[in-house]
Amino acid sequence: MKKDLLSLLDLEKKDFESLFERAIDLKERYSKGIFDKLLAGKTLGLIFDKKSTRTRVSFETAMIQLGGHPIYMSTQDTQISRNEPAKDTARVLSRYIDCLAMRTFDHSLVEEFAQSSTIPVINALTDSFHPCQILSDIMTVIEHKGGYKNIRVAWVGDGNNVVNSWINAASVLGFELMVACPENHMVKQEFLKAAPIKEKGNIVLTNDPKEAVKNADVVYTDVWASMGDEDELSKRIIAFEGFQVNKALLSGAKDDVLVMHCLPAHRGEEIAEDVLEDKNSAFWDQAENKRHMHKAVLESLILKD
Ligand code: CP
Ligand code: NVA
Repeated sequence: MKKDLLSLLDLEKKDFESLFERAIDLKERYSKGIFDKLLAGKTLGLIFDKKSTRTRVSFETAMIQLGGHPIYMSTQDTQISRNEPAKDTARVLSRYIDCLAMRTFDHSLVEEFAQSSTIPVINALTDSFHPCQILSDIMTVIEHKGGYKNIRVAWVGDGNNVVNSWINAASVLGFELMVACPENHMVKQEFLKAAPIKEKGNIVLTNDPKEAVKNADVVYTDVWASMGDEDELSKRIIAFEGFQVNKALLSGAKDDVLVMHCLPAHRGEEIAEDVLEDKNSAFWDQAENKRHMHKAVLESLILKD
């Protein structure tokens, strides 16, 4: 694996495979009460400039359960908020900690940190990508569907950081990905160009949610206004008409369709209450698997040498 995990294009297919295998193994071992303390004595820093429940807590608990220590820093509490350059902060933190997970608005800030630090840097969500989310989500797909190779995933919603990471994953792994976004909220061209589409035709873009969900094994959605876009929500509620994942839309998917959402969810907007509360849903497994996957990511980056 490369030094950093900034986007899923940093991973080769074999890296994905070994992370899925290790995360599933760690989950099984944890369920049997076996704790692997492979990161004893190691420290993970977390610098977060946006809010988080799942990603923060799953990274922190992952690190603690592996025998290491997390240190959470809100950007506001660091000298970054007083304009200390990223390259200085990155070099200083490299002298104290063994790995850094970052959640920022601008993706280039995470890139700057990665460039100037000698420790691995992990993207814990930027405006552009959410790679660790999709790693744990594909782990969830493997658990529910027995694999990811022959599945059809439909994205219904905003052309945002989460779908950008799905596009990266599909471009490396080759599964079918149908992406439906409203006309003015389609995935930006720069994120399509960056994805080396290896198996031609496995990623399809449309403005029609019904076309996207047709025969889908997995239907995935996310909020219509991501962190930083909240001011646009009322306009977006109009623009996203017809994009709610509800029973009517899902009737076009396979009977055993798995509905997924990275959470937090906005009931009555991108997803209907009864779909979110369906007892066969994957949402809570997705949330749990973040902890197991983050363990696998931390181990593979920190114990690389
Ligand atoms: N899914 C996810 O990243 O959730 P948080 O924003 O709560 O971390
Ligand atoms: N697209 C959402 C994901 C939150 C986990 C956001 O960036 O706010």
